[in-house]
Amino acid sequence: MTHTLAGPPFRLHDAATIGAALRDQHYNDLAQHLTAARRRNLAYPGFTDLTHRALAELMTEQLLNNVGDPYDPGHGHDHTKAYERDVIDHLADLFGASRTRWGYVTTGSSEGTDHALWDARLAYPGQEPVVFASTAAHYSVAKACARHRLTLVHVRADPTGRMDITDLRTLLGQWRHQPVVIVATVGTTMTEAFDDVAAIANACDDLAIVRRRIHVDAALAALPLALLPDHDRPSFDFTSGATSIVTSGHKFLSTLTPCAVLIYAEAPVLARTPHVPYTGTADTTIGGSRSGHTPLLLWSSLSHGLDTHRRRAERSRELAGYTHERLRAAGWPASRNPHAFTVVIAQPPPEVCARWVLAPDGTRAHIICKPDTDPAAIDELVTDLTRPATTVVPAPSPPENDQAAGRTPTGVPA
Ligand SMILES: Cc1ncc(COP(=O)(O)O)c(C=O)c1O
Repeated sequence: MTHTLAGPPFRLHDAATIGAALRDQHYNDLAQHLTAARRRNLAYPGFTDLTHRALAELMTEQLLNNVGDPYDPGHGHDHTKAYERDVIDHLADLFGASRTRWGYVTTGSSEGTDHALWDARLAYPGQEPVVFASTAAHYSVAKACARHRLTLVHVRADPTGRMDITDLRTLLGQWRHQPVVIVATVGTTMTEAFDDVAAIANACDDLAIVRRRIHVDAALAALPLALLPDHDRPSFDFTSGATSIVTSGHKFLSTLTPCAVLIYAEAPVLARTPHVPYTGTADTTIGGSRSGHTPLLLWSSLSHGLDTHRRRAERSRELAGYTHERLRAAGWPASRNPHAFTVVIAQPPPEVCARWVLAPDGTRAHIICKPDTDPAAIDELVTDLTRPATTVVPAPSPPENDQAAGRTPTGVPA
C-alpha cells in the first residue's frame, strides 16, 4: 500500500486489517517530515528548541485534568494544579505582580484575552465597558469583543505597529463617561511592536478615568522583555499599570503544544464563581476540564532557568539582526523594531511565498527568528529573493532534509 504524509496511512475503518506496524512506521516518517519542513517555516513564532523528553511518561501515560480553578483542588487527584500555580507565581514575580495575583493556564493567548474581556464585562454590570485596541492588535481581540458584545474602538497604529498614544487620548476623551478596557499589544503579530503600557496608564490618569482595565496581550514577548536589563526594558507589565497579562507557552517557551499563562494583578470577578458540587472546584475558567499536561510543559521549560531563557532571547535577536542585515545588503526592503525577533519584509513574489512559510498579508511578510533558526536557510531565502522568478526551485514534498546537505552559514557568529 502507498500513502502520503499529508494524512493518515489508512482509514480508521480499515485499522483492524492493516494494523500497528504500518501506523508506527508512519508516525516516524511524519515526525521526520515535520522536522525537515520546520526549516522553511520562518514566519510563525512557535519555538521548538526546547524539548521535554523527561516528561514522556507523564505526557503519554497519565490522564491529567486541571478541571476548574487552579487554587481549588477539587475532588480528583489526577491534576497538576501545584505546578500550574508555581508557573503563575514565577511569571507573576517577573512581571512585577503584587501578592494579590490570580491566574490560570489557558489553551492560548486568545483564551486569556477572552477571559479578561469577559471579566471586564462582568466587573461593570449595566455600564457597558468600551474596549480600545490598536489596528495592529491580534484578531482574537475583535473575536472576544464580538462574543461578549463589547464595543471595540480601533486606535491608530504608527508605521512601526505601535499604538498611537495621541490618538488613544483623543478617543478616551470621548468615552471617559464609561468604563474602558485598553488592550495593549506587546509584540504585535506582524511587526513585534510594543505598545507603551505606562503611557496608556498615564493617558487614563490625565483624563481621570478610574473605571479602567489594561489587558496586555504579550503572546510572544513577555518573558524575553522581562529578562532585559532594567534600562532597556520597555514598560509593559504590572509595574506600569497593567491589570492583566497573557503570554503563550507554545511561542517563546517552546512547550510544543498550545497553551498560555493568564495573570491578573487582583483576583478577577470570575474568581468568585461558586463551586460546582460535581467537580468540587470553582468554575472560574473558560473551559471546564483543562489540560494538566500544559502546566507541566510550562514548568519544564521554565525550569531551565532565566539565564537559559535570556540566552535564547539574545540568540534569536542576534539572528534577527543577521537576517535584517542580509536582506538590507541584498536590497530587499526590510525593517526590524527594537528588541524584536521579527524582521518585516516587502511581500515576496508568489513562487518565493510558495517555497517558504512567510505569512504574507498582501503587502508585507515576516521572518520570526528563533534560537535554532538556520542561518543557511536565511541565506537561501535571500538568494531566492534576488534571483529571477523562473529559477526559484519549488519546495519539495516532502521537503528534503537540507541540514543533511551540510551547508555552512556565512557571517553569523557560531
Ligand atoms: C499578539 C498576539 N496575540 C495573540 C495571539 C494568539 O495567541 P494564541 O495562539 O496563543 O491563542 C497571537 C498569535 O500569534 C499574537 O501574535
